[in-house]
Amino acid sequence: MINPRAAALQYSQQNKPVFLSNLKQLLEIPSVSTDPDHIPDMEKAAQWVASELSAMNFSKVTIFPTAKHPVVYGERMDAGPLAPIVLVYGHYDVQPADPLELWKTGPFTPEQRGDNLFARGASDMKGQVVATLSAIHSILAGGPLPVNIKYVVEGEEEIGSPNLGKFLREHKDLLACSFALNPDSGMIGADVPTIVYALRGLAYFELRVTGPSHDLHSGMFGGVVHNPAIVLADLISGMHNADGQITLPGFYDRVRALPEEERTALAALPMDDAYFLKITGAAQLWGESGYTAVERVGARPTLDVNGMLSGFTGDGSKTVIPAWAMAKISMRLVPDQDPVEVHQQLLSYLQQHAPQSVQWDLTVMAGGPACITDIHQPGTQALARGLESVWGKAPLFKREGGSIPVVGDMQTILGIDSVLTGFGLPDDNLHSPNEKLHLPTWYKGIDALIHFFYNLV
Ligand code: BES
Ligand code: MN
Repeated sequence: MINPRAAALQYSQQNKPVFLSNLKQLLEIPSVSTDPDHIPDMEKAAQWVASELSAMNFSKVTIFPTAKHPVVYGERMDAGPLAPIVLVYGHYDVQPADPLELWKTGPFTPEQRGDNLFARGASDMKGQVVATLSAIHSILAGGPLPVNIKYVVEGEEEIGSPNLGKFLREHKDLLACSFALNPDSGMIGADVPTIVYALRGLAYFELRVTGPSHDLHSGMFGGVVHNPAIVLADLISGMHNADGQITLPGFYDRVRALPEEERTALAALPMDDAYFLKITGAAQLWGESGYTAVERVGARPTLDVNGMLSGFTGDGSKTVIPAWAMAKISMRLVPDQDPVEVHQQLLSYLQQHAPQSVQWDLTVMAGGPACITDIHQPGTQALARGLESVWGKAPLFKREGGSIPVVGDMQTILGIDSVLTGFGLPDDNLHSPNEKLHLPTWYKGIDALIHFFYNLV
C-alpha cells in the first residue's frame, strides 16, 4: 500500500477534470460583493462553499449572516489535540466585471483557451478557494487529515472586509487556531514559486467638489466661476511633488525606512523594470525617485486616482461648466501608517489647498493597515518545502503591493499570523477584463498544498 501523501498526490493527478469542473461551477455564480443586485448570488456562492464542506464531512458547517454578506465556516478536528489547527481563509466574492465590452467571452461563463481559464474571480480568488478544497479532498481520499482544519470563507474581501472584524471578535473561540493559510496573493511567475511576507494597507476615499448650483453655459460664465473639474484636477495634481512623493502633511512620518539587507534581497527578485513594462503595457515606468520598482510597489506608500467623473462625457461636444466633480482616491500604506491618521492628513491637505470658490466633501470608503508576517513561523517553512517539492526549487519571498485587510485583523483580533501564497500570475488581469487562471500552475499549486498539510506534522 502506498503512503497517504503519495495516495493524495495520485488522487490529485487523476482528478484534475473534477477540480476544474468544480471551479467552473463556482465561477458561474456572479458573486459581486459591491453590487446590491447580486445579493442572491452572494447567498448562492456561500451555499456552494458550504455544500462542498459538508460533502467532505466537515462539521459545524454554518453560513453566518453578517450586516452584509455571509461568512461560511466548517471544521474537521479529527487530527486530535496535539496536531496543529490550520485556519484556511478564502473569499467567495469578486470584483465587478465591467467594462463588459472588453471581455472576449462572458465574465461568468468560464472558458478555457489554451492553458488558461477565463472568468471573473478565476485567479482572485475562487481558483485559490477551489485549490484548497481540492487539496483537502485529495488528502481525505488517501487517508486521515494530518492536521485539524478550520475553514473560513468570507464574501466581503473585495469591499474591504467591513464586517469580518466583528465576526472574528464574536467567534474568537470557535476560530482559535495555530495560524492561518491565506492563498489570496500570487506568484512572481509560473516558474517562480512565491511566498508573500508583507502586504500594503489601504485608505480609500471619495472626494466631491461642488461649484455652481447647476451646470452653466461655459460662454456665459467661463471666467466668472471656478470650474469644479479644474479645482479637482489642481487638488489631485498637488498631491505629488516632482519627485513622485506624496505631499499630504505628515504622510511619511511613520513610514519605516527599508533596511539595506532587505533592499538587497528585493533587488535579487526577478522583477526588474522590463518585467513591469511587459506586464503593464505602459510606455515608461513612473514613481517615487530613489526607489526601484519592486521597492515602490512593495515597501513604499503610494497614492492613486481610481476614477473621476464630471461634466459632459458623452459623444460630441457640449459647452458647459459642470456643477460638480468627483474622484475616487486611494492610498496604499506600509507599516506603521494608520488609515485613520491618513484620513486626517488628507483632510488637512484639502483644508490648506482647496479654494474658497468651491465646497468639498470627503467620504471614507474603505481602509485597513499594512502588515508584515514572520517568515520563520513553522507554517511558512512547511509551505516553502511544499512549493519546493513541486517546483523543484525553493520559493522566493516577496512583499505584495495589494491589500488583504483580514491578515491584519487576524493578527490583532485572533493573535495569529498568516502564511500568504496563491497560484495566480501577474498577467492574470485581476480586477480587469479577461481575468484568467493559468491551469498548469494551479494544478501544481494543489499538489504543493497537499505537501504543505503533510509537512506540518
Ligand atoms: N487578492 C487581492 C490582493 C492581491 C492582489 C494580492 C494582487 C496579491 C496580488 C485581494 O482580493 C484584493 O484585491 N484586495 C483589495 C482590497 C481592498 C478592496 C480592500 C485590493 O488590494 O485592492
Ligand atoms: Mn483576493
